Amino acid sequence: MYPEALSYLRCPHHPAHALTLSADDVQGADGTIRDGTLTCVGCAARYPIRDGIADLLPGLGLPPTLAQLTNALPVAAWAYERSWRPRALTLLTGEPFGYERELPLVVGLVDVPRGGLIVDVACSNGLYARALERARNGLPGHVIGIDHSLPMLKQARAFAQREGVRISFVRARAQALPFAPATAATLVMGGSLNEIGDSGKALSELHRTLAPDGRCVLMSLVKGSTTAGRTLQAGLGLGGVEFPTLTELNRRLAVAGLRLRAQWRYGVVVFSLLMRS
Ligand SMILES: C[S@@+](CC[C@H](N)C(=O)[O-])C[C@H]1O[C@@H](n2cnc3c(N)ncnc32)[C@H](O)[C@@H]1O
Repeated sequence: MYPEALSYLRCPHHPAHALTLSADDVQGADGTIRDGTLTCVGCAARYPIRDGIADLLPGLGLPPTLAQLTNALPVAAWAYERSWRPRALTLLTGEPFGYERELPLVVGLVDVPRGGLIVDVACSNGLYARALERARNGLPGHVIGIDHSLPMLKQARAFAQREGVRISFVRARAQALPFAPATAATLVMGGSLNEIGDSGKALSELHRTLAPDGRCVLMSLVKGSTTAGRTLQAGLGLGGVEFPTLTELNRRLAVAGLRLRAQWRYGVVVFSLLMRS
């Protein structure tokens, strides 16, 4: 993580409390905080920073679902953007939908030039985080990628470093985002809502942390309309991935207080632009 993340990060247990950095931290050549300890000024909980990643979930046990367990495997983290991710939306939508179409869509919707705190929630290898940092183009603010899988975050950091983009990666749960209320100018979540666990709590955290004029963009999957699609989704459901209908998705967004400003559907893939209500 980078020093500029410190002004935004809060204790995941007490989002009103800041985190202080130990005096013996070790910095890398590009200013990254490579090793150190974060301490909550309220509850004194201590969180390690190792290999440039702040771990706000030290000692976390195995994740509860097969899908989440898979994402915790180093081989899955290594393979994710090298195999599945570049083809994912083309396969899921049934039309050409490479990064050259997806990333400008997401970046355009969140209006990155406003700067401020930009968070990629459940970021995996940090695809959206990198696109948003490239688009931020030096404006005030910082991009932070959150995920509960350490291998995913390590790969995300490696990709970001290779590209020379300045992104902080933090291990945390989507259901307990380590930010103060109403501080995020931009929140994005790409494809993760379907496997996040308690989606209601994750959505209410998006609502809690989004600034009053902030923007949130979700890319998520809904129930298929073909028998083959529904059968496949039922199988994935056994592993903990759920596919709500569009009506159910929108009901959950509304319950969380997220106001739907616009929505686009391509097959089972839905992009939603949300603001606070
Ligand atoms: C489908 S992948 C995300 C893809 C990524 N956003 C992208 O667009 O390439 C799902 C990710 O969500 C993470 N994840 C699942 N449940 C989570 C939770 N409750 N909190 C934080 N991360 C979670 C997994 O570790 C995994 O990296």
